[in-house]
Amino acid sequence: MKRHSLLIVDDEKEILRSLTLTFMQDYEIFTTSSGTEALDILAKQDIALILADQRMPEMTGVELLAKALLINPNTIRIILTGYTDTAALIEAINQGHIYQYITKPWERQALRVTVKRALESYEIVLENQRLIKELQIINARLSDENTFLRREVDMELQNIRIIGQSEAMRQVIATVNQVINSPVSILLTGETGVGKTLLARYIHHCSPRHDRLFIEQNCGALPEALLESELFGHKRGAFTGATQDRKGLFEAAHGGTLFLDEISEMNPALQVKLLHILQEGKFRRLGENETRQVDVRIIAATNKNLQVAVENGQFRADLYYRINVFPIHIPPLRERMDDIPSLAQHCLAKQCRKLNLSITDFSAEAMQSLCSYDYPGNVRELENLIERAMILSPGNQIQDGEWFPVSMVESTGLSKPQLIERTQIKRLLDLHQGNLTQVAQALKISRTTLWRRMKEYCLQLESVRDPDVSV
Ligand SMILES: Nc1ncnc2c1ncn2[C@@H]1O[C@H](COP(=O)(O)OP(=O)(O)O)[C@@H](O)[C@H]1O
Ligand SMILES: [Mg+2]
Repeated sequence: MKRHSLLIVDDEKEILRSLTLTFMQDYEIFTTSSGTEALDILAKQDIALILADQRMPEMTGVELLAKALLINPNTIRIILTGYTDTAALIEAINQGHIYQYITKPWERQALRVTVKRALESYEIVLENQRLIKELQIINARLSDENTFLRREVDMELQNIRIIGQSEAMRQVIATVNQVINSPVSILLTGETGVGKTLLARYIHHCSPRHDRLFIEQNCGALPEALLESELFGHKRGAFTGATQDRKGLFEAAHGGTLFLDEISEMNPALQVKLLHILQEGKFRRLGENETRQVDVRIIAATNKNLQVAVENGQFRADLYYRINVFPIHIPPLRERMDDIPSLAQHCLAKQCRKLNLSITDFSAEAMQSLCSYDYPGNVRELENLIERAMILSPGNQIQDGEWFPVSMVESTGLSKPQLIERTQIKRLLDLHQGNLTQVAQALKISRTTLWRRMKEYCLQLESVRDPDVSV
């Protein structure tokens, strides 16, 4: 073990020498006859114990030790005194400036024991400090882990899991991850049911704002006057029926995230207010003069093409540019068919938990059916389909059956195998951008057959880009 260092301060050379002899066997010894120099040594060396004479010309031992305390509070401070300086000593002990005092002349062995005991308590103090520090580190780590786990549990409870192995969804997630930690506004675009609301929740829950509120408002769901007061709040008497002051959603979401769904439905007057709050973080409650400041992250969503809305004068260009800083497009399910199996399995498990059922999976035929439909209603439609299949399937596996999009079968007059084939052709046409040669090759049929089937299945021909269609 490392030897402790002792600092001995006395203006009498003789005493310094004698004390050095007493302790040099067991400890590293520093000596000085000057108080100032003693403080200097204390600042530079790791001194476990300082032994100082009380009567010295430059400063008294008590004064020296009071200063030593400020340099290193852990060092044990002992006074040697030849006089009965009781008042000063009692004061120093009471103030915690010194640990003990020893009267001159001392008994060599007794002094050794005193120093040894003092150093034992010094070690205990150091060990305690080390343990406290360690505990603090462990606590911080536990608290981090706890936060992380709580977030996972939260997400699990609220079913905030994004399923998607397709290249398209991976790109969406990669893009989302780039902005998750910044407060930048996000615009989510995509057809109804693709997962815009889910993604908005996911962003909030993964962001540093996750322990504040996520508030959702559909801009198309309220008449404009109501929407304004809902978002910005109002003062009592601002309009008929405003019987008291009311906070708006912007204030409620302070520190958190406000999700504005169907943003295209917001009227131009409100668009101005929204633009202002996005630029300045400032707004007024209805009927109030005072401006208020909030820190809210905005996630907007739309299933319309906002660019077109801007061109038609329905949406303000300046607001469009402001919220379109970070656009994220979620492609329709039919453009990422490889997500269907895992989404189907996820929906099944989710529904089983909700209804307390134990259906574990899909028969191969049922899955085949699920994978051959084009889901105009996207993931929401897939969910509904599975819900229906669960009710109609006895046993613990979903079987192929009546639950398959009946309306579609009826309305097209096609049989189910035909319907599956139609979906397959349509998907390949999309994939190969209408190139019939490639589609026919993929299906291992001739182009003429392909063309006949397309006609039979009423598949749109405008999208066909084959340069030499000669049928
Ligand atoms: N990638 C996904 N992983 C898991 N569930 C999804 C996914 N995308 C959508 N869903 C589910 O599908 C349903 C519709 O999604 P939602 O976010 O409401 O769509 P949107 O807001 O675009 O209309 C929700 O129940 C949602 O949980
Ligand atoms: Mg939605």
